[in-house]
Amino acid sequence: MADVQNLVNNSVDMEKSVFEPPQDLRNEAHVKSLEQYQQLYKKSVDHPEEFWSDIAKQFYWKNFTTDKFLEYNFDVRNGPIFVRWMKGATTNICYNAIDRHIENGLSDKIAFFWEGNNPEDHDRITYGKLLEEVCKCANVLKSLGVKKGDRVAIYMPMILELSICLLACARIGAIHSIVFAGFSSESLSDRVIDAQCKAIITSDGVWRGTKLLNLKEIVDNAVKLCDDRGHTVEKCIIVRHLSPENEIIVHDDVNGDQDQEPPAKRPYNKFKINWHSGRDVWWHEVMAKSSPVCEPEWMDAEDPLFMLYTSGSTGKPKGVLHTVGGYMLYSTTTFKYVFDYHPSDVFWCTADVGWITGHTYVCYGPLCNGATGIIFEGVPLYPDAGRFWEIVDKYKVTKFYTAPTAIRTLMKFGDEHVTKHSRKSLKILGTVGEPINPEAWLWYHRVVGNEKCAVVDTFWQTETGGHVLTPLPGAIPTKPGSACVPFFGIVPEILSENGETIPKNSNKEGYLVFKQPWPGIMRTVYGNHERFETTYFKKFPGYYCTGDGARQDKDGYIWITGRIDDMVNVSGHLLSTAEVESALIEHEAVTEAASVSHPHEIKGDCIYCFVTLKEGFQFTDELLSELKNIVRKKIGPFAQPDFIQNAPALPKTRSGKIMRRILRKVAVGDAELGDISTLADESVVDILFKLRPKEA
Ligand code: WTA
Repeated sequence: MADVQNLVNNSVDMEKSVFEPPQDLRNEAHVKSLEQYQQLYKKSVDHPEEFWSDIAKQFYWKNFTTDKFLEYNFDVRNGPIFVRWMKGATTNICYNAIDRHIENGLSDKIAFFWEGNNPEDHDRITYGKLLEEVCKCANVLKSLGVKKGDRVAIYMPMILELSICLLACARIGAIHSIVFAGFSSESLSDRVIDAQCKAIITSDGVWRGTKLLNLKEIVDNAVKLCDDRGHTVEKCIIVRHLSPENEIIVHDDVNGDQDQEPPAKRPYNKFKINWHSGRDVWWHEVMAKSSPVCEPEWMDAEDPLFMLYTSGSTGKPKGVLHTVGGYMLYSTTTFKYVFDYHPSDVFWCTADVGWITGHTYVCYGPLCNGATGIIFEGVPLYPDAGRFWEIVDKYKVTKFYTAPTAIRTLMKFGDEHVTKHSRKSLKILGTVGEPINPEAWLWYHRVVGNEKCAVVDTFWQTETGGHVLTPLPGAIPTKPGSACVPFFGIVPEILSENGETIPKNSNKEGYLVFKQPWPGIMRTVYGNHERFETTYFKKFPGYYCTGDGARQDKDGYIWITGRIDDMVNVSGHLLSTAEVESALIEHEAVTEAASVSHPHEIKGDCIYCFVTLKEGFQFTDELLSELKNIVRKKIGPFAQPDFIQNAPALPKTRSGKIMRRILRKVAVGDAELGDISTLADESVVDILFKLRPKEA
């Protein structure tokens, strides 16, 4: 075991620091050794049909006869790209996520604990109750005219009803399109129009930290924008989530009583809700009248299950489409092995269900395994920076999954917020969403995990449906900052710009691609198959291209270096901005860094960095030269940034991804920013322009 403190202080080369799986975990793990992983892996890639059909047999199928277990074409030169797993077989994922467990006697098991934004608000739902609610909701949808194949938009906070709606859609074969309830009316309407959604499900509003959001108003505006563009949303179902006293209902035909002062339970803004008779229905009213029994719609394995929009680095959002059978197998299997699931676990994924991580690891993966999960409505810093660990103790969470951005934010607030909570129950800590810098990895391991937990850095995408590169916690020794090895069924390669295979273990950076399909891969971009082919299959015929850069070290470990479009070519050296950032973050003054390319007369491109300082540090000339030096030292003189600017905050999407596209504009002083509707906080941009160094 590496000496953690030494690593943090001396930045020992991370490739050489290896963390063995904790012994307790290894003893109980589904996969207990590297050799066992290798055997299973080999079978999964050499005989995928056999491997996945053994797994498929553990599910309920109405009919398990397939035309062909797997059929695909990954090569644009041979015709259209397609992937089909188990076509002809019929099942229902909702049935597998709930009914199957009830038949196995798990009716009283908790499916979800719900933890509200305010620590005193909480709830829970058993598998038995979940089935009733899902069936009622499914019947409501049917009564409103929603049929198999129709699209339903869901724009909801992290409440139990969100999971109920998603499962109800799956039960009747309607395709859900969940839009994170933080997007603007414009973004919501774009997605609703693109998918031609028939109905939207939302709630009146939600508290997020100390902010109250009027979701109904955002939805009303979105529906209006849809109308203006010729698409009618027929029905809106509204969950009453806030206290009814907070709301003033104004009917579209009658004026509501606007003088009534509601009693103040806790800080609130009085809320006005416009009610559109004929279109709007209250959830509690329709649910009360609905039958708790609903026969599932038996779906072909290749019928669509859901679409989820992903921004991509340019252009309009793509509706990534997943299908029933493959996604069911893949979400369930990755959950089981990567979080080494056991029935006594309490699993907590902090991601919002509005993102793929929430789809797969809040809902489908855990439920299909019969797990107990947590749905958390709040934010990491409310009421204070210890909230996560307070919840971990409250529910005795055993497996915890979050994003590097959250980890770095919490690091900034100091260890006391963590150490004052016990965290004794924790066994596995996961991260996802962006490359994790070794310092954050080590803090997660050392402070949060008390050096007792396995840390799993899971690399995947909306498009992949589930983890594709990841350690298995009982089998694979980990290295801080590496997503380690391929999951079952994944055949990674690293290609050069012109498509040549970079020799394994050579440590040379290139494009990360996958050579054959796994069950969870997306099937198309909704309504635009050509865009699917162009985005993922055109550049390297025969491969699915992730768009991420990676290198493989001498032990075969894969290190993601960031999006390829975040690469900088400095004097002929291809550099990933993530590497530069990782170096900067090692400086004690820096909490977050982002780097982009900036045109340079001689070098072609040079590196321009944005750094956010920890509290108590000043942005001085001395610091500036220290920062340049640390990059020189870590990567090489060619990598030294030409510009480093102070960035009190970075422009981020609502899911916490840094928007480098905007930083590139700031770097060159170009105020034509294009679409910034996905930015969480637009005011950040002005501040950054003001702080630009004059020479840039
Ligand atoms: C990045 C999130 C490094 C990557 C599940 C990918 C990561 C994009 C990691 C997908 C990781 C995700 N290490 N980078 N462990 N996980 N990424 O679609 O650039 O929201 O292509 O899916 O996030 O983001 P998406």
